[in-house]
Amino acid sequence: MTQNRRVIKAVIPAAGLGTRFLPATKAMPKEMLPVLDQPAIQYVVAEASKAGLKDVLMITGRSKRALEDHFDRVPFMEATLEAKGDTEKLRRVQEATDLGEIHYIRQKDPKGLGHAVLCAKQHVGDEAFAVLLGDDLIDERDELLSTMIDVQEKTGGSVIALMEVDPSQISAYGCADVTAVEGEDYVRVNGLVEKPAIEDAPSNLAVIGRYVLHPRVFDVLEETKPGRGNEIQLTDALETLAAADGEGSGVHAVVFRGRRYDTGDKLSYLQAVISLASERPDIGPELVPWLKEFVSKH
Ligand code: UTP
Repeated sequence: MTQNRRVIKAVIPAAGLGTRFLPATKAMPKEMLPVLDQPAIQYVVAEASKAGLKDVLMITGRSKRALEDHFDRVPFMEATLEAKGDTEKLRRVQEATDLGEIHYIRQKDPKGLGHAVLCAKQHVGDEAFAVLLGDDLIDERDELLSTMIDVQEKTGGSVIALMEVDPSQISAYGCADVTAVEGEDYVRVNGLVEKPAIEDAPSNLAVIGRYVLHPRVFDVLEETKPGRGNEIQLTDALETLAAADGEGSGVHAVVFRGRRYDTGDKLSYLQAVISLASERPDIGPELVPWLKEFVSKH
């Protein structure tokens, strides 16, 4: 019987090959790419921590060292900064280590996001849990994860996050067929298609990288055959849960209208860095005038 308590665990898959960023990702996961002065994954762990998810399980791949080191203490560096009286840099170095209790598990073969989530089965047990993808950054000023946790508690099934995209972009995402739920600000998911052609897309609602899942997803993933790209797709398991009956079935979605930054490919990564930098008080005031001049010359 699933315990009826608030979601406390976050799973962060970071074992993908990151081929769109080769050769940068040859020896380092793409989740470690810097977005300004922080690796992308630190924004994501901070988001989980802010939503009360202090138990984080990272699914790592062949290059897990950099991830583990980043969230660990660095006594020598800390002592040097302290001796110099550089308290601001010391605070920034220690920030990553104070975000929660981080555990690591290895996905031996990158067989897809669904397979990565399945690696969390033992650690998560019989509780609802959150999944956060390291290449989707949600602006800390906008609320998403805690709203999704509330919806999961209310509906009892699984919850995904959707965002409206230009129809021409939908083939880069999972796409959802939804119906409104009367009196609620979330929607019911009737079906999901992974990266559909424009003409086959049931909507312009794209699945983004935040999930709050019922543990029944593990049973479904165990039975899910490799799908698109010969990978075990989380979308396929959610499609099964959306159509299932009984405890832990059903998928609902929160339509996110806030600020999201995609760092998954080169162009969107640059756009994410520029958007975030232009709003940062220590960089923005110099960057924005430079950008305007740069653009006017091109
Ligand atoms: P992506 O679909 O972006 O794949 O994974 P990728 O392999 O990392 O990147 P490209 O397409 O080759 O450039 C979405 C998320 O799922 C994780 C990734 O680390 C990323 O956070 N993932 C993907 C795994 O943990 N394991 C996998 O087998 C696949």
